[in-house]
Parts: sequence; C-alpha cells; structure tokens
Amino acid sequence: MSSSRRKKALFEHPRLYDLAFGFRDFVAQADGLLALTARYAARKPRSAVELCCGPAHHLRELAARGLRAYGVDHNAEMLAYARSLSKRDGVDVRLLRSDMRTFELPERVDLAYCLFDSFCHNTTDGDAVATLRSTAASLRRGGIFIIELTHPADFFEGVRSRSSSRWTQRYPDVVISTRFAHDNIDPIAETFEPGIEIDARYRDGRAAVRIVDRLQYRIWLRSGLRNIAAASGCFDIVGWHGDLTPAIPLSMRDESWQMVVVMRRH
Ligand SMILES: C[S@@+](CC[C@H](N)C(=O)[O-])C[C@H]1O[C@@H](n2cnc3c(N)ncnc32)[C@H](O)[C@@H]1O
Repeated sequence: MSSSRRKKALFEHPRLYDLAFGFRDFVAQADGLLALTARYAARKPRSAVELCCGPAHHLRELAARGLRAYGVDHNAEMLAYARSLSKRDGVDVRLLRSDMRTFELPERVDLAYCLFDSFCHNTTDGDAVATLRSTAASLRRGGIFIIELTHPADFFEGVRSRSSSRWTQRYPDVVISTRFAHDNIDPIAETFEPGIEIDARYRDGRAAVRIVDRLQYRIWLRSGLRNIAAASGCFDIVGWHGDLTPAIPLSMRDESWQMVVVMRRH
C-alpha cells in the first residue's frame, strides 16, 4: 500500500463503496422485492421509492421493468453516481437529495423500501418514527414498506455471525479488499458501529485509496420495530422474513441470514 494513499469517508467515494459491496444480485433482489409486494399488497406496484438509495441499483432494475422509480438520499456524491449509472443504462430514476425523515415525493407510490441496514441510520425512536411518517405520506393506502436489516442473532455473543467479514474483489482497473464487522455493539444504547475498511489498489499505479469508516447504527430488533410502527400511527407489520423473498420466514435457520420486515400503510 502506497504511503501517499488518501483517506476518505465511505459514502464520499461512491464507486469504491459500490465495488466493495457489489456482490449482491440486484436482479434477484428486485424479483424478491416484487414477490414480497405481491404477497402483501392488494395491487401490482406501478411506482416505488427507495430510501437511502445510494447507487440505486434496485431502482434501475425496477425502472427497466416499467415502474416509476424515485430515490431519496442525502449525499450529493452518491446521487451524482446514481445519476451517472441511470444515464448509462438509459433508465428514468428520479433522484431527490433529501433526508429520509423529512422527504416528500410529487406523487404517492405503491412500494417503499430501505435496504442494506440503511434504516439503522435512524438511531433514535424519534428518527425512526419520523422516517415512517414521511414514508407513509409518500405511499398509497395499502402500500408496502420493506426494510432489510441485520439478523438479530448477529448482535448476540456466542451466536455465529451470518455475515462474512473479509473479502477481496478484482476488477479490470482496481483490486478492492474489504473488511466489515459489527463493531462496538452497545447493548445499553442499542447501537453498533459497522466498522468498514476498504483498500483500493489501482492497476495503473495511481495512488491507492484507503477508506476507514465507523458509522453509528441503531440495533433494530423486533420489539423496537413493533414499537415504532405502532407509534407512527401509519403502519401495520404484516411480515417477517429471513431474506428478500416471501419463501424464507425469519428464523434461526441458516437460510434466514437477515431480517426483512414488511409493513403495510393503513
Ligand atoms: C449503505 S448505503 C446503502 C445504499 C443502498 N440502499 C443499497 O442497498 O445499496 C447507505 C446510504 O444511506 C444514505 N443516508 C444515510 N443517512 C441518510 C438519511 N438520514 N437520509 C437519506 N439518506 C441517508 C447514505 O448517503 C448512503 O448513500
């Protein structure tokens, strides 16, 4: 690693974030989002919003399938990156720079979702209730809100973690080594710090980049989620799943490797 490497915060370097976490199958996950919606909603979705959309991969897939797609994120660099990918793919994703707790859409949509633990940026009940209320205001009655979270077992000592912690990916221009861990779990504050280290070594000799970031995330467990759904006055919890598919219920089985909560706006 070159000594001239530059340090950057995670979401200020969207492409490296994206390459480091680019192992997900976005087409399959978009299928899963639509399958969950079909399971819990009365009508087929024609429009969707992603909270904390980041690069907006799922939105581009949904837009390509004909849905009107909105993305909300408060980070300008991330939105510029998402915009460039949408332009590259020739799909219409409408990106709004806004906070998930206060955003407003120009229309009510059928489906809302917040993936990859991004809902954990809501560190207090008050933040989470505000996010649920702004989401409800952007959803039709009967609309679905899907939240993808860490499996609860990953926060408890002695239970084997379901998520891998170190990996390396090789791309034509850059090799990315990533470390991810649920660090500094605080059972009193109900918070954890996703410790993320990304080392990017460019093949053309450019200065390497090292990203070391520690975010403050809330540990969302089932009781807390039930509490905020009730406090919002807007949502019923209608489903708990162990992956982004209706086929896998939330459980302690290995196939249930995350926690997906499905809420319906009343
Ligand atoms: C881990 S990335 C996830 C991106 C995307 N959901 C995915 O699955 O790839 C989290 C994103 O949340 C955004 N973010 C964090 N706090 C936010 C907030 N309060 N309102 C809107 N966006 C937020 C960050 O800018 C970042 O792009």
